Amino acid sequence: MARRAEFNDAGLHEAVQRLRAADVVAFATETVYGLGADTFSEAALKRVYDLKGRPRDNPLIAHVATVDQARELADEWPDAAESLARAFWPGPLTLVLARRSNVPNAATAGRPTIAVRCPAHDGAQRLLRAFNGPISAPSANRSSHVSPTTAEHVLADYADEPDLLVLDGGPCGFGLESTVVDLTGTALPRLLRPGSVSAEQLEAALGPIDTPHLDAQAASPGTRRRHYAPRTPTELIDRTDLAERLRTSRARVGVLRFAASLPDADPIPDADTDDASDRVAITLPADPDEAGRRLFDALRQLDARGVDRLLIESPPADPAWRAVRDRLLRATAADRPDIRGD
Ligand code: TXA
Ligand code: MG
Repeated sequence: MARRAEFNDAGLHEAVQRLRAADVVAFATETVYGLGADTFSEAALKRVYDLKGRPRDNPLIAHVATVDQARELADEWPDAAESLARAFWPGPLTLVLARRSNVPNAATAGRPTIAVRCPAHDGAQRLLRAFNGPISAPSANRSSHVSPTTAEHVLADYADEPDLLVLDGGPCGFGLESTVVDLTGTALPRLLRPGSVSAEQLEAALGPIDTPHLDAQAASPGTRRRHYAPRTPTELIDRTDLAERLRTSRARVGVLRFAASLPDADPIPDADTDDASDRVAITLPADPDEAGRRLFDALRQLDARGVDRLLIESPPADPAWRAVRDRLLRATAADRPDIRGD
């Protein structure tokens, strides 16, 4: 069994010992839990890829305690990086920069660029400071599965892993992965993955940025695949079609919907109140940030119900829902035989 520890002196001490010994440690951040390893240890990085089942061509984010540490990983520190770091670090924003030549290939999947993030979570900060070096970490889910927002989620994904340490920092405050921005091009900064820092906030700090359409984001290797996905077959469906489907289908279904667009009459029992029903629902709050915080836990809860199918109502088209929409589009993307999961 993977094992839980607190972000106290004993937990941090053990975590640092493990990181120094090229082992992997799972830890809370303000976005999702990460599966961390020493950025400068090829052996530890290999273990992250193996443990997660992550494709080798998908690079990792290096987590740092300070701007100075980030600069040590980057070949250049453009003005845009300085502006964004000042505005949003520590916090849920990842910057893609040209990498320095001493950074191991495994830390960037062989790319000439490196993604860096300075997390705000107090426990993550204490871990980074105690380790005194950058920690590369993907989200601590098994590859292609729903990202973990509690220590329990990590323990569930790695239940059969005998010796994984999980530093428990409680439920994640944001609950969606960081926003990823590419600053390496000569053109405009480019949004690779929407997240808690919105495109509008980035533009307020930087001026215009390039926000490619959600479906066309091939530049960030981890975003082109089906992932964030429950194991139950899952479908994204418009509200009107959802109502029709529920009228006509006999399948046992789990429904995820948004209070923002709920009909008045609501015949489906809530997942946490009715255990015997063939149909269960979770209704996420009308506020997009609140909904984002609870999204992955809701997907995991519905997945655990053993229903035939999950039906997810399309969230509102409004830009405030961009990050939630992105995750749901990817959770429900058709499996591509040519591409493995993230
Ligand atoms: O909030 C987060 O970012 C969490 C926590 C643990 O910090 N981490 C996370 O890592 O979500 P992961 O590995 O699940 O997603 C990292 C994303 C992937 O889409 C990956 O392809 C992209 O960042 N990425 C990493 N390095 C990159 C690079 N050099 N160029 C372009 N994209 C990169
Ligand atoms: Mg991930």
